[in-house]
Amino acid sequence: MNEILMRVKTNNLFVLLFLTFLLYLSLSSAQLPPYVVASPRLLDAYLQDFAFKTIFNPRTGVSYDAHVPISLRGIKVSAMRLRSDSLRTRGVLNYKEFKIPIGVVEKPYVERLVLVYQNLGNWSDTFYPLPGYSYLTPVLGLLAYSGDNLSASSLHELDIKIVDKSILVHFLNVKPVPIGALAKCVYFGLQGSIHFDILLPGNVCSTMQQGHFSIVVETNAPSPEPCGYEKVQFGEKNHKNMKLVLLISGILLVVIILGLLVIRVVIHQNGSSRVRELDRVENNEILDMTSIGDIKVPFAFGTRTRPMIEHEYFA
Ligand SMILES: *[C@@H]1O[C@H](CO)[C@@H](O)[C@H](O)[C@H]1NC(C)=O
Ligand SMILES: *[C@@H]1O[C@H](CO)[C@@H](O)[C@H](O)[C@H]1NC(C)=O
Repeated sequence: MNEILMRVKTNNLFVLLFLTFLLYLSLSSAQLPPYVVASPRLLDAYLQDFAFKTIFNPRTGVSYDAHVPISLRGIKVSAMRLRSDSLRTRGVLNYKEFKIPIGVVEKPYVERLVLVYQNLGNWSDTFYPLPGYSYLTPVLGLLAYSGDNLSASSLHELDIKIVDKSILVHFLNVKPVPIGALAKCVYFGLQGSIHFDILLPGNVCSTMQQGHFSIVVETNAPSPEPCGYEKVQFGEKNHKNMKLVLLISGILLVVIILGLLVIRVVIHQNGSSRVRELDRVENNEILDMTSIGDIKVPFAFGTRTRPMIEHEYFA
């Protein structure tokens, strides 16, 4: 008899452990949403938003530096608003590292546009990992948006066309090229394409498109996977925090299990009178359990729903 009771008790313990495990699972999955997985395109949208907030009442043709959030420290963003007629007829001689020639036209036509400049700094590898290559200079971005409504967020880039000429990127602070290696320009298109080109004298890359640019050299690692940079973990800090939370909940779980085991052993080793008292408690529990079993919920459910189905048939 005592053996049976003991088995029931052990089952209860397992049920308790299982519930704890479920709770642990739901808690750890509840920690997942803040752990954002982002793409370079999501970063572009973020930076557009911050850049536009910075240039609330701008003078045209002046570059304004935006404040990036602390979680993205190391990235530089600027914005410049231009009349699109002036961009077409005069270009922009100097916008950070970029020289924009005469004859740039955008589609759809807007009266004013905003050029958002990005310098990804030490985040270049995070957002634009390029296996088989290493960066000699941070990834720079130049993206054109409609400047007609500066409160707008999540804007799409304008379609930029340059006739005959090219935008030139004069890279500054380029690391020396390793001996025997060939430095190349790399271009990341907005749709995820990667394109390599020759580096012009004076660390200059030339482009007919907006997008992201850098200078790379080949390393001995395998060649790049074109889609490799589409999904990038956003914020290592969150990742570390989540690991910590998982570790702590894991330790808590172990402590709870050990505690339950200790309690069980202590109860088991107590005097026979206590055991008899316990037996009574356990008997009550069994009675409760069987009485719950006697209700037979599924049967009640079935008899209640059947008339409804018949009713529907005849209706
Ligand atoms: C870049 O450097 C800043 C400090 O200047 C640091 O806070 C940030 O975590 C770094 N980012 C990466 C991806 O290493
Ligand atoms: C500008 O964009 C904001 C946000 O999308 C919108 O609420 C506002 O109505 C827009 N203003 C104009 C003049 O279109």
